[in-house]
Amino acid sequence: MTDKGISLAVIKRLPRYYRYLGELLENDVVRISSKELSEKMQVTASQIRQDLNNFGGFGQQGYGYNVEYLYTEIGKILGLDRKYNIIIIGAGNLGQALANYTDFERRGFKIKAIFDINPRLIGLSIRGIEVRMMDELEEYVKKEEVHIAVLTIPKTKAPKVAQDLVSWGIKAIWNFAPVDLNLPKEIKVENVHLAESLMRLSYDLKTMQENEENQETGL
Ligand code: NAI
Repeated sequence: MTDKGISLAVIKRLPRYYRYLGELLENDVVRISSKELSEKMQVTASQIRQDLNNFGGFGQQGYGYNVEYLYTEIGKILGLDRKYNIIIIGAGNLGQALANYTDFERRGFKIKAIFDINPRLIGLSIRGIEVRMMDELEEYVKKEEVHIAVLTIPKTKAPKVAQDLVSWGIKAIWNFAPVDLNLPKEIKVENVHLAESLMRLSYDLKTMQENEENQETGL
C-alpha cells in the first residue's frame, strides 16, 4: 500500500492507463466509457472502474471518463507533473541509446550528465551532453540536484557504484545491470531487465510449441 492507501498493484497499472489516455488525447477524444476503455486495453471494465475509483470522482454515470482530466490526475499521481534530473552512469551501447532517446525529456525526465570510466570517451558528447569521467561524479552528485541515477555499467561494477551514489545522496536508481543491488530499504530501485522479459516470452513460446507437438502426436 502507498501512503494514500492505493495498492501497489494499482499503481503498477497506472502507466498503461496513462499511455492509452495520452493516445486518446492525441486523437482528440474527449470522453470514454469504462467499457470502451476496457475494449481498447483488454482489461475488464470492472477492473478499470475498480482501479480508477481509487482516486474518486473521475467517472460519472452515463458520461464515462473525461479523458483529459483522467490523464492529468493519473499524471499527478505518478508524479509526472514534476521535473526530474537524471544522470547516466556508463556511456556504452545502452547508456548512449538511453541518452539519445528524446521522449523521456517530454515526460519531464531531463538527462543532465553522463559518466564513464573509459578515458577514450573523453570529448564524446551525446545530444550535446558531454561524457564526464567518474572522478567528477562525487562532486557533481553532491553539488547538483540529481533525482535519478541510471546504471548502464557491467554487473560486476554496479553494486559498488550504486553504494557510492547512495552515500553521496542519490535516492532513486534505474538499474539496467543484471544484478541485485542490495541497498537500504528507503532507496528506490527500479530494475529493468530485458533478458527476463525475453525469458518469459521464451516460456510462452515453448509452451505453445509443446501444445502443438502434443496435438500432433495425439497426446
Ligand atoms: P557496454 O560495454 O557497451 O557499456 C558499458 C560502459 O560502462 C562502458 O562504456 C564502460 O567503459 C563503462 N564502465 C565500466 N565500468 C564502469 C565503472 N565502474 N564506472 C563507470 N563506467 C563504467 O555495455 P552495454 O551493452 O551498454 O551494457 C551495459 C550494462 O547494461 C551491462 O551491465 C549489461 O548487462 C546491461 N544491459 C542490460 C539490459 C537490460 O535489459 N537491462 C540490456 C542490455 C544491456
